[in-house]
Amino acid sequence: MRRLEGKVALVTGGSSGMGLASALLFKEHGARLAITGREPATLDAAAARLGQDVLAVRSDAASLADIDGLMAAVGERYGRLDVLFINAGVAHAAPIESVSEADFDAQLGINLKGAFFTIQKALPLMRSGASIILTTSITNQLGSPNFSVYGASKAGLRSLVKSLALELIGRGIRVNAISPGPIATPMFDRLGLPEALAEAKKAAIADKSPSKRFGAAAEIASCALFLASSESSYIVGEEIVVDGGMSLL
Ligand SMILES: NC(=O)c1ccc[n+]([C@@H]2O[C@H](COP(=O)([O-])OP(=O)(O)OC[C@H]3O[C@@H](n4cnc5c(N)ncnc54)[C@H](OP(=O)(O)O)[C@@H]3O)[C@@H](O)[C@H]2O)c1
Repeated sequence: MRRLEGKVALVTGGSSGMGLASALLFKEHGARLAITGREPATLDAAAARLGQDVLAVRSDAASLADIDGLMAAVGERYGRLDVLFINAGVAHAAPIESVSEADFDAQLGINLKGAFFTIQKALPLMRSGASIILTTSITNQLGSPNFSVYGASKAGLRSLVKSLALELIGRGIRVNAISPGPIATPMFDRLGLPEALAEAKKAAIADKSPSKRFGAAAEIASCALFLASSESSYIVGEEIVVDGGMSLL
């Protein structure tokens, strides 16, 4: 059964990792798609994988002007939005002494402010029955040394999900989140760590995990499909943890 037949879905950060895996699955289930990212080459490669009818928009989640342009493009192409998956995010590893104001603002700007204004600016396109999904992280509840700013940005999202879920459910719009544990995506190569240290960190994480492995992007995509579809119609303001048991430790 195709679970998103005819629905219009926007996946921010849909050019890579779990966003791309979700976009591919949404498409397989009949969704008409828009994706975003900043890197033109990555965005073009993702659009090529997804097929010609996909709307790929270069849009920086931290820029309100870009978000306006994105919603205008989605409105012009599709006229409405049924599924909004706010997944674009960045993580920079740094001990407290090394965090600059610019880096703090950049992470909060993309991960938290960008998410808030993407929802605000998408609302005119959304009707009763629509679903908003945010990607948080298990770091929003666990202590995570050297990821304090990232964890705080994702904790902010956790709070947004609850407040906006209550604010929007009266219009029939559900807001929920997926909280991933370690997932094998290009993000781990973008943490700003030297390669050897990044590899050592990955091995230590896999070893610590009760599942003894990283999750796959497809394992996040199947949760996103569930939250996007009417199968989750009575789930409101929830954050579903997909982490192989990591946060139970
Ligand atoms: N991988 C994990 O273990 C893990 C765990 C918990 C949570 N997460 C969260 O999962 C989400 C997806 O990450 P991923 O692991 O799939 O990493 P990824 O492969 O690096 O994908 C991140 C996506 O977000 C886009 N993006 C980043 N900054 C953006 C911006 N300012 N504007 C628009 N798009 C932007 C990237 O495209 P461009 O770089 O081209 O802009 C890319 O498409 C993120 O929110 C991340 O925090 C990941």
